[in-house]
Amino acid sequence: MFKKLSKKKVMDALETVIHPKTGTSVVTAGAISDVSVKDGEVFVTLQIDQGTAGIMEGVRKKCDEAVGKLSGVKSVRTVMTAHSSAANGAAAPKTSTQNQAPKKTGFGHGKRPPPTPEPIEGIKRIIAVASGKGGVGKSTTSINLAAAFSALGWKVGVFDCDIYGPSVQRMLGEGAKPEFTAEDMIRPVTRHGMKAMSMGYLVPEGRATVWRGPMVIGAVQQLLNGVAWTEDGDLDVLIVDLPPGTGDAQLTLVQTVPLTGVIIVSTPQDIALIDARKAYDMFIKTETPILGMIENMSTFICPSCGESTDIFGHGGAKETAAEKDIPFLGEIPLHLDIRTHADDGTPIVIAQPDGEHAKRYMDIARELKKGLMG
Ligand SMILES: Nc1ncnc2c1ncn2[C@@H]1O[C@H](COP(=O)(O)OP(=O)(O)O)[C@@H](O)[C@H]1O
Ligand SMILES: [Mg+2]
Repeated sequence: MFKKLSKKKVMDALETVIHPKTGTSVVTAGAISDVSVKDGEVFVTLQIDQGTAGIMEGVRKKCDEAVGKLSGVKSVRTVMTAHSSAANGAAAPKTSTQNQAPKKTGFGHGKRPPPTPEPIEGIKRIIAVASGKGGVGKSTTSINLAAAFSALGWKVGVFDCDIYGPSVQRMLGEGAKPEFTAEDMIRPVTRHGMKAMSMGYLVPEGRATVWRGPMVIGAVQQLLNGVAWTEDGDLDVLIVDLPPGTGDAQLTLVQTVPLTGVIIVSTPQDIALIDARKAYDMFIKTETPILGMIENMSTFICPSCGESTDIFGHGGAKETAAEKDIPFLGEIPLHLDIRTHADDGTPIVIAQPDGEHAKRYMDIARELKKGLMG
């Protein structure tokens, strides 16, 4: 009879993987920051220096292979977590980072100093789309704004940062599966002339919902720094579709890359706006520029008679934007066509480029572009 799979066995297997920087095992080098084992599914978090994702991809694979050989392993996934070398070298033993006092930077996760955000070469701007609450239309807004920027001549990427509930793969359509480049980077999917990457392209729907914090952090970093976003040329803008709220994915994003700014999406009613204010507070704390607010599902337009009804009220986001002294970017009505096209894989900006809804998104994108070009 073979013994049950344990963390210790996984660590022993990882002892056989050599860290290129130290020449010792990745375990001795202090690069394994987390191991979790549940029902034969193993997750390993490999800490790396920022900007070394390309080099360390081989090590990551070796970790997968070494653990995969153990009996009782059903699946293994090693994710990389990047820290800037100045803040926390990969070779530093784990305890020394844990004993350091957290840096004074607006928010403190407590355990280790947050890394300094580093730009991704070839990506000129990174704009995140946030909301306090789920289901208010962040993803719909993200893909339509992305399509609008693309129609305005920008080279666009879309990064679905909603690790637990990715939807970009559905809203932009499946397309070809991502592959690896010769440098072992993940090649993004190309949809409607835009580069797209989503956990939804990589793992079966629903699987990521069991992930714990460190895995989310690793996944966000890997999908940002381990993806060949600029293989076909620079991107003028990367649109980041965030999960709702203010959790690990948001914090990781603002710690990993410098954001050009964030757009907050809200529906008009009070409850959504209370949550939108929380999102606002988090981005203010992390000193992220707020580009403005969009009111989505602003007015219901009846698809058969064209009459307008303010189902969720109207104008709440505009008032909140005024109160917070941030730009109000525009209103998007609640309309069946916006939903069906988003959920069918073609944003309405592309499906009905001459329509009233496309015009709303185009106007917002045009204003933003003007502001960002200075
Ligand atoms: N303006 C709109 N009109 C009609 N349906 C919309 C609109 N915005 C979003 N939806 C639909 O509402 C649902 C939730 O939107 P989604 O973009 O997934 O929200 P979130 O990303 O904030 O969770 C989706 O089915 C989407 O197609
Ligand atoms: Mg979403």
